[in-house]
Amino acid sequence: MPAVYVLNGPNLNLLGRREPGVYGSVTLDEIERRLREEAGAAGVEMTFRQSNLEGELVGWVHEAGLKGAGVVINAGAYTHTSLALRDAIAGSGAIAVEVHISNVYAREPFRHKSMIAAVCAGVICGFGPTSYKLGLAAAITLLRERTATAP
Ligand code: DQA
Repeated sequence: MPAVYVLNGPNLNLLGRREPGVYGSVTLDEIERRLREEAGAAGVEMTFRQSNLEGELVGWVHEAGLKGAGVVINAGAYTHTSLALRDAIAGSGAIAVEVHISNVYAREPFRHKSMIAAVCAGVICGFGPTSYKLGLAAAITLLRERTATAP
């Protein structure tokens, strides 16, 4: 069964009450519930985690890579700063999809630069909680393509 880790970085535990004008009112628990439905329907094993600690996220990327799982990652502010996460994604060999709730390119210039985008398969941002759904669908598609073309 294909496996996908959905990883959430700092402050995403505050979704629902954090800057609702930017991030809306949907909580991270609700996003997880919606994704579990999607993953279940697709026959995919989903692991969903959040941490405010960079090193913990790095460890989870390694874990996903070792298992051959895909990664959907909203690294929050670490997106814009974390060389460690970038190296973890590149080094683990995991297929990763970067997601954001907000359209980071319509926001402050410091959010226009992603440290991890170049080592991810692609980036999905600006669709609210639906960014996660699209990210999960992309990760599942890529995992299936990898399996289909494996020697
Ligand atoms: C975010 C965008 C980041 O710039 C910000 O630091 C976040 C949330 C998003 O989902 O829109 O924490 O990743």
